[in-house]
Amino acid sequence: MRKKIVAGNWKMNCDLGEMQELLTGIKNQLKNIPDTVSLMVAPAYTNLYAAFETLKETPVEVVAQNMHQEKNGAFTGEISAAMLKGIGVQTVILGHSERRSIFNENNQLLKEKVQTALDNNMQVIFCIGEELESREENKQFNVVKQQLEEALFTLPEKAWQNIILAYEPVWAIGTGKTASPEQAQEMHAFIREQIAEKYNSEIADAVSILYGGSVKPANAKEIFSQTDVDGGLVGGAALKADSFVEIALAFQN
Ligand code: 13P
Repeated sequence: MRKKIVAGNWKMNCDLGEMQELLTGIKNQLKNIPDTVSLMVAPAYTNLYAAFETLKETPVEVVAQNMHQEKNGAFTGEISAAMLKGIGVQTVILGHSERRSIFNENNQLLKEKVQTALDNNMQVIFCIGEELESREENKQFNVVKQQLEEALFTLPEKAWQNIILAYEPVWAIGTGKTASPEQAQEMHAFIREQIAEKYNSEIADAVSILYGGSVKPANAKEIFSQTDVDGGLVGGAALKADSFVEIALAFQN
């Protein structure tokens, strides 16, 4: 059985006080969430340690939004895998479209980051997805295939135990435009098929593939009910405890 996951990517939002308020709201409602659903939150670097301390006694996992590929050194402003591990962070989001487009992270660099994370026994939530232009030209499958091939398909089979994928069509991020449940299912099935072809169907069946892009309480249930959708990577709607919890509960009904 694949893991069902709802992860909140808070991006560059929430100072310490705001985060603690959000975490209190989530903690207060944890008893309602079935233990078949794994919850994750990804605060900004400065809040990771506090989040980890606050959530220590809960099943909610604290994950990082990014990290540097090098072990250490003269990389002003950057954070290493060891630094994340040192405060208890086991999972990192890599390849988010905002990292790709605003910070020029390409598949080659992301491949290095993935390798560093895996070398440090970390789990990776790896984001893939096409921009609007590619969707309009019906090139979304080529784009996603290339992202998989260039960043992940040189990994050995056993590395896939530590990979979670997130399909995030860029045109649906923060825009209010969600991929239809059919569009999400079609792409998730395609991704699984690519993994089965490159590796085998056991690996393809075991990898959790999350959908991201304007997920909210009103659409989560329909999206999560698709066969190949194993949860969500949620931005805006994860910034309110009630809507984040409601999205997690979408699995229940
Ligand atoms: P929104 O849910 O705000 O569209 O953001 C999605 C996202 O980028 C999650 O990583």
